[in-house]
Amino acid sequence: MTRALAALAVAILAVAPAAQAQKFEGLALTPPMGWNSWNHFACDISEETVRQTADAMVASGMRDAGYLYVNIDDCWHGERDADGFIGADPGRFPSGIKALADYVHSKGLKLGLYSDAGWKTCGGRPGSRGREFQDALTYARWGVDYLKYDWCSTEGLRAEGAYQTMAAALTAAGRPIVFSICEWGDNKPWEWAGDVGHLWRTTGDITACFDCEVDHGDWSSWGVLRILDLQEGLRAHAGPGHWNDPDMMEVGNGMSESEDRAHFSMWAMLAAPLIAGNDLRTMSETTRSILTNREVIAVDQDPLGIQGFRHSRDGDLEVWYRPLADEDWAVCVLNRGPAPRRIELDWHDETVSDELSGRQTLFNARLYRVRDLWTGKDLGTTRRVLDAEIGGHDVLMVRLARVLDADD
Ligand code: GLA
Repeated sequence: MTRALAALAVAILAVAPAAQAQKFEGLALTPPMGWNSWNHFACDISEETVRQTADAMVASGMRDAGYLYVNIDDCWHGERDADGFIGADPGRFPSGIKALADYVHSKGLKLGLYSDAGWKTCGGRPGSRGREFQDALTYARWGVDYLKYDWCSTEGLRAEGAYQTMAAALTAAGRPIVFSICEWGDNKPWEWAGDVGHLWRTTGDITACFDCEVDHGDWSSWGVLRILDLQEGLRAHAGPGHWNDPDMMEVGNGMSESEDRAHFSMWAMLAAPLIAGNDLRTMSETTRSILTNREVIAVDQDPLGIQGFRHSRDGDLEVWYRPLADEDWAVCVLNRGPAPRRIELDWHDETVSDELSGRQTLFNARLYRVRDLWTGKDLGTTRRVLDAEIGGHDVLMVRLARVLDADD
C-alpha cells in the first residue's frame, strides 16, 4: 500500500462508525401494510391457506389499496437439518417456503416469515438463537421480504443486542428484508430500535375486543382502547423507516362494524403498520370496505410519517389530530363509550399546535375543506361548525385540506 493510500485508509477508519449492527436502510418509508396469519389462524397455518390468502388479497382489492406483505407467523417451522439449516414443516408446507415466496411474488406481493431471538418461538418451534446468520441467509435465499422476530425463551439475553445481531445478519444476507421487532415493548425499543428495526411492537398482544383485558395467567392480551392508551408518549420515536407498532389488526375478527371502523381509523391516526389479521378468504363486504378505505389508508401512509396525538378528552369523547403533508390535517373524534354522543366543533375555538412537528392549524388565518373519510361526503369548510352525532364505539374521521388561495 502506498503511503497516500494508507493515510486514506486511516482517515476512513477514523470517520467510519465502529462496526455496528445496522438495519437494511430505505425500507418501510411509510408504515408496512399487509396481512399476518396469527390473529385468526394461530398455529393452524398451511401453504394452501397462505396461497389462498395471497389470491384473496388481490381479488379483494387489498393489494391495489396498498397491502403488500403476506406474513406467516409462528408454527411454519419444521426441524433443523444436520447442518443446522431450518426447514418448513413438511406436513403443512410440503412445497417449502421458496415455492411459496415465488407464488406470492408472482401475484405482485411479498412474503414475510416469523422467528424468535430465543431458543424457541412462543409456539415452541425452533428459535434463531445462535443461528442468526444462518437463518437470515436461509430467509434471503428463499426470497423472504419481511421478518417478525419474537422474544420468547430469551432468558439471559439483552434485547438490544439480540435484535442488533439479527439486524446485522439480515443486512449481511444482502436482501432487503423489513425487520419487525416484537418484544412487546418490554425493553423500551422506541429508545434504541430506530437503527435496528423498521417497526417495533409497543405492547403485549392485541385481542379482538374494543375495551377489555384477557388474562392468560402470566400474560394478558389487550383490546383496542387499552392498546391505544398504551401509545401515550411514544409518537416522537416514529417516522419514515421506524414505526411504533401497536400490533396487527383485529378488523373482521368479531368486533362490531363501528368498533372495527374505530380501530382502523385510530391505527391510521397512529401511523401504525396496517397488518390485517382476519381471514381474507371469507371476509364480509363490510370488513373489506373498512380495510380498503383509500382515504383512511392515505392518512396512515402520509409521506411525512408524523404520528397523531390526542388533543382533548371530554368523558368518552376524544379528539385526535395528525399533521399531514401539504399542510393538511387528519382529525378523528373517537367515542370510547357505548352510547351515541353529539359533538359541536367550532374550529375557530380550537388552536391546535403540535410542538413535535412545529405545525399549527391556525384556523383563524387558514381555511380548510372538511371531508368525512367514512361517508366520503364533503362537510363544507372550517368556517362552519362541525355538528355531528357519533355512535357508540365509533368515530368521525375527517381530513382538513388546506385551501391555499383563500383567506379565512
Ligand atoms: C407472541 C407475539 C404474537 C405472535 C405469537 C406467536 O405472542 O406477540 O404476535 O407472534 O407470539 O406465537
